[in-house]
Amino acid sequence: MQLKSLALCSLAAVTTSAAAAAVTSDNPRSQQSCLCSNTVETLLSAYVRILSEPKWNDTEAKYLADSFRDTSDSINILAGIPLGSVTFPSKQALIAHETSAPDNLPIKITSIGPYDCTSVSFIWSATFGAGNPVRGITILGATKAAGWWQIASIDMEMNSCAFARNIGGTCVPPGAPPS
Ligand SMILES: *[C@@H]1O[C@H](CO)[C@@H](O)[C@H](O)[C@H]1NC(C)=O
Repeated sequence: MQLKSLALCSLAAVTTSAAAAAVTSDNPRSQQSCLCSNTVETLLSAYVRILSEPKWNDTEAKYLADSFRDTSDSINILAGIPLGSVTFPSKQALIAHETSAPDNLPIKITSIGPYDCTSVSFIWSATFGAGNPVRGITILGATKAAGWWQIASIDMEMNSCAFARNIGGTCVPPGAPPS
């Protein structure tokens, strides 16, 4: 995972000292309520495990906030869910899905960023089935409301056409536009 572009957040660990507090007050990313490189890595690793492992592992539940929701028209169109709808409206809904039909998606994060205090975006790729690389972009919303960092939301869009072809479906693009 490439995390070089992210600001380090080591000051968050020493905010008990007055000097560190003075520094961090000018630097929102250093405050304990903000994501930094290590907490981003924790959440992205959990995201990858949740989507890629062949079986749901209940130890991952701690990384999903009680307020969790997952929205993706790229999934909705494949799953027959009305476009514009929330895909998984709760933590329980995502866990039920991953338990009964794990995505088992060999997802590789190819770049991370931008991010801010409570959200991080990244680009990923997954190649499986018929072998078309599926490119996706995810924005994770994060919260520390429970006392530790959790994923509060997923907004993800990907190449549904490549995904459908990989799992034996078809996807026919329109002909070339008239010149
Ligand atoms: C579930 O995840 C935990 C923590 O990563 C790990 O120690 C454990 O081996 C996993 N269990 C299974 C069945 O994969």
